[in-house]
Amino acid sequence: MSDTGFVRYLDVDTGTRISKIGLGTWQFGSRGWGYGQPYAEQEARAIVARALELGVTLFDTAEIYGRGSSERILGEAIGGHRDDVFLATKILPVAPLPAVVQQRAVASANRLGVSKLDLYQVHQPNPLFPDTVIMPGMRALQRIGLVGEVGVSNYSLGRWKAAEKALGSRVLSNQVRYSLVAAGPADDLIPYAEEAGRVVIAYSPLAQGFLSARYDANNRPKNAVRSSSAIFLPVNLERAAGLFAVLREVAEAHDATPAQVALAWAIRSPAVTAIPGASSVAQLESNVAAAEIDLTVDEWQAMRDAADRFRPVSGLAAVPRLMRARLGR
Ligand SMILES: NC(=O)c1ccc[n+]([C@@H]2O[C@H](COP(=O)([O-])OP(=O)(O)OC[C@H]3O[C@@H](n4cnc5c(N)ncnc54)[C@H](OP(=O)(O)O)[C@@H]3O)[C@@H](O)[C@H]2O)c1
Repeated sequence: MSDTGFVRYLDVDTGTRISKIGLGTWQFGSRGWGYGQPYAEQEARAIVARALELGVTLFDTAEIYGRGSSERILGEAIGGHRDDVFLATKILPVAPLPAVVQQRAVASANRLGVSKLDLYQVHQPNPLFPDTVIMPGMRALQRIGLVGEVGVSNYSLGRWKAAEKALGSRVLSNQVRYSLVAAGPADDLIPYAEEAGRVVIAYSPLAQGFLSARYDANNRPKNAVRSSSAIFLPVNLERAAGLFAVLREVAEAHDATPAQVALAWAIRSPAVTAIPGASSVAQLESNVAAAEIDLTVDEWQAMRDAADRFRPVSGLAAVPRLMRARLGR
């Protein structure tokens, strides 16, 4: 693995160190992102290859991304670099009984072409089953060595702690939406992770490209994932003008881009790693380089204040607008 000096790592005792910027791979083979075949067949592989060269270790996928395509593409792209990576995938806990969990872990490992999942995450809390149902299966997988660390995703702090109790050992990480426009984890999950030696994995750290400040009311992303997302409504892109201005100003001071300072904002805590997705090798390079940016306290706060002043139309109020936007009106 070459070391460009760009990559930083978390100070957590995992076999392979976890990079402060990882790579999210929901985009790989995903219809919803709509990047198409050339992306799935070439660009995705080139992105992984460049990430490996730059020293990125954390790669995140899930059994449901592209119905297994993401795991397959990622596994092939990693190829002989298996020992350089901290490979994370997720199980959708629909019927989380031990036998099912074991079968699904084996299927994920097969698609990835590996004999061990470094981090196996419960994709969503199951509202019907407590974690005492799924964790015995996870524990058994750890015992036989198919799983290294257990993680959760989209868990509240209380449920994360309950999951640890059910597992009987640490649940290393909680993967949650965390960015300037989704800052909730800063209040409870991140302080807990800092204090307990756990990790918060920030997903959608660019708010799906919103924080790149390159979209506006007349230039909205068109794919299914984002055209059904309220934050990309024309009214919200207009309301974000103040936030985008602050991002541009801070970016200019660091000779960086708005996306880079938005990532630097998200990974400021020593317990946080971010897993931005990338539509090109250039984006991946730019995202990795963001780990080098040290924001001042004033800059961090100015960004947070600007994000607090941004009041997007959301929830039920956004539904009619989303329908109109979808119909092009
Ligand atoms: N656990 C969960 O429930 C969950 C949920 C969602 C995501 N995730 C994970 O988190 C990962 C990341 O989240 P995400 O993909 O939702 O959102 P994201 O990382 O915030 O946004 C990714 C998108 O932002 C744009 N982008 C990336 N780097 C950029 C750059 N340097 N400059 C400008 N634009 C840039 C690209 O889209 P364009 O170039 O097309 O604009 C890219 O596809 C996923 O891949 C997945 O692994 C997990």
